[in-house]
Amino acid sequence: MNADTSPPNPTPGPLRGEVAIPLTEALAMAQSLQRDGFLGEAESVYRQIVARKPNQPEALHFLGVLLSQTGRRDEGVELILAALELKPNYVDAFSNLGHVLQELGHLEEAEEAYRHAIKLDPDFADAHLNLSALLYECGKYEESLKHSQRAMEIAPMQSQAHVIAGEAFAKEGRHAEAAEAYMRAMERNLFHAGVHEKMGISLLRMGRTAEAIDIYQRWISLDPDNPRPHHHLAACTGIGVPARASNEYIREVFNRFAATFDERLTALQYSAPALVVESVGAELGEPQAQYAVLDAGCGTGLCGAGIRPFAKRLTGVDLSSKMLAKAEERKLYDELIESELTEYLLRSPQSFDVIISADTLIYFGELRSVMTAAAAALRPQGRFVFTLEKVESADAPDGFRLESHGRYAHSMEYIRNVIEQAGLKPGEITEIFVRTERREPVKGLLAVGRKP
Ligand SMILES: C[S@@+](CC[C@H](N)C(=O)[O-])C[C@H]1O[C@@H](n2cnc3c(N)ncnc32)[C@H](O)[C@@H]1O
Repeated sequence: MNADTSPPNPTPGPLRGEVAIPLTEALAMAQSLQRDGFLGEAESVYRQIVARKPNQPEALHFLGVLLSQTGRRDEGVELILAALELKPNYVDAFSNLGHVLQELGHLEEAEEAYRHAIKLDPDFADAHLNLSALLYECGKYEESLKHSQRAMEIAPMQSQAHVIAGEAFAKEGRHAEAAEAYMRAMERNLFHAGVHEKMGISLLRMGRTAEAIDIYQRWISLDPDNPRPHHHLAACTGIGVPARASNEYIREVFNRFAATFDERLTALQYSAPALVVESVGAELGEPQAQYAVLDAGCGTGLCGAGIRPFAKRLTGVDLSSKMLAKAEERKLYDELIESELTEYLLRSPQSFDVIISADTLIYFGELRSVMTAAAAALRPQGRFVFTLEKVESADAPDGFRLESHGRYAHSMEYIRNVIEQAGLKPGEITEIFVRTERREPVKGLLAVGRKP
C-alpha cells in the first residue's frame, strides 16, 4: 500500500486545536508519523485536518489507508471513495482502494480499481505490482506475469515484482525462469522475506540440489538464528535430519501462515479434516456428543466443525499461538492449549476417548515417541485417527523421509509397526489424497490405532 504519494495541494492556515501549523505541513507530518508506525498519532493529525477541511482528498485518502492498516477496512474504503469523489483522477487512491478491497476479499472490485489506476497512469508501477499479486492469488499466472514484468520495466530495482514473477513461473512449472526471477530479486534485496526458500524449492524441482544447498547455506549466513534454512538444508543433504521439525521451525512457519491458512488450504482442496471425521464416524458410529476428544495439532480448527458433534468436551493443542487464535474465533473448542504435542500428551494420561490429528504428524519423522504418548493419553477402547503423507518403503529405509519441501513422508509398514509397538491395534491404513500441490494430488495415508 502506498501512503507516500504526490504532494498535497497547499492549503495555508492553521489547524484548530493542538496542531496549529499550516495544513500542508500537518499533512506531511501525519504521513511521516504513519510511515514510521506512529499510527495513533498520525490518525489524530489526519482527523484534525479533516475536521478543519473536510474536502481535502489527500487527508481523506491517507486516513482511509491508515484505518485499513489498523483493521477498520470498511471505514477505510468509505474514506478513500470520498477522496476519489473529490479527485477522480487520483491514481494512488485507486491503487490503495484496490489493496483494501483485496484484503476485504472483494477481488473483482479490487481488480477493477487497479485496472482503473493503470488506465489513468499506465506507468504506475505500484498498480501493476498490486494487480500482478492479485492475479497470482486468483490463479491467473500468465496475466499476473504480464503485470509483474511491466512493473519490473518501470521500476527495475524493486524486488517484489521479481518475486511475484518467480512465483507465477513456478506455478506454471517454469522453474528455470522462476529461479532466474528469484535471483534478480535477491540481487536487489538480499533480505527479501521468503525468497531463498522459494529459490531453493525451484532449484530442487529441477534436480539442482547442489545449488539449492548453496542457497540455504547463504541464507543461514544471513540469518543464522532462523530455523527455516536449517530445516531445509537438512532435507536437502540428509545430514542432521531432526527426529521431528523443531518447535522454532513450526512456530516460525505457522505463525506466519495463520492469517491465510484456511484460504490457501481451501484452494488446494484440502481433505484431511473431512476424512479424519469420516473415519471417526466409521469407527464409533453416530455422534452423540459423548466423547472427550483431542484435536492434536488443531491449527486454525479446520477439524472443529466436523468433530464437535462427537465431543462432550473438545480440546485443541498446537504450538502456534497464531493458529490457535484463529481456532478460538470458531468458538467450537472447550479448551485450546499452546504446547508441543508429545509433551502435552505425556501430561494427559488416560484423558481422551478420541484423538484426531490431521496433517500434523507430517512434521514428525520418528513417530514412536508421539504414538506412545498418544496411546497413554487414550482411555480404554479409545481411538487415535491421523493422516500422514506417503512414501514407498523402498524409498525410505528408515520408514520415513524428510522431503525437500520440509515435510516428512512415511511408509505404510513403518506406521503399522509404530502403532503396534505403542500397544495399539492398527486398523486398516488407507491411501488418500490430502490436497493438491502444483495441481498434482498429494498422496497420503489415513490410519487408526485402537486402544484395547
Ligand atoms: C498443516 S497444519 C494442520 C492443522 C489442522 N489439523 C488442520 O487439519 O487444518 C499442522 C499444525 O500442526 C502444528 N504442529 C506441528 N508440529 C507440532 C508439534 N510438535 N506440537 C504441536 N503442534 C504442532 C502446527 O503448528 C500446525 O498448526
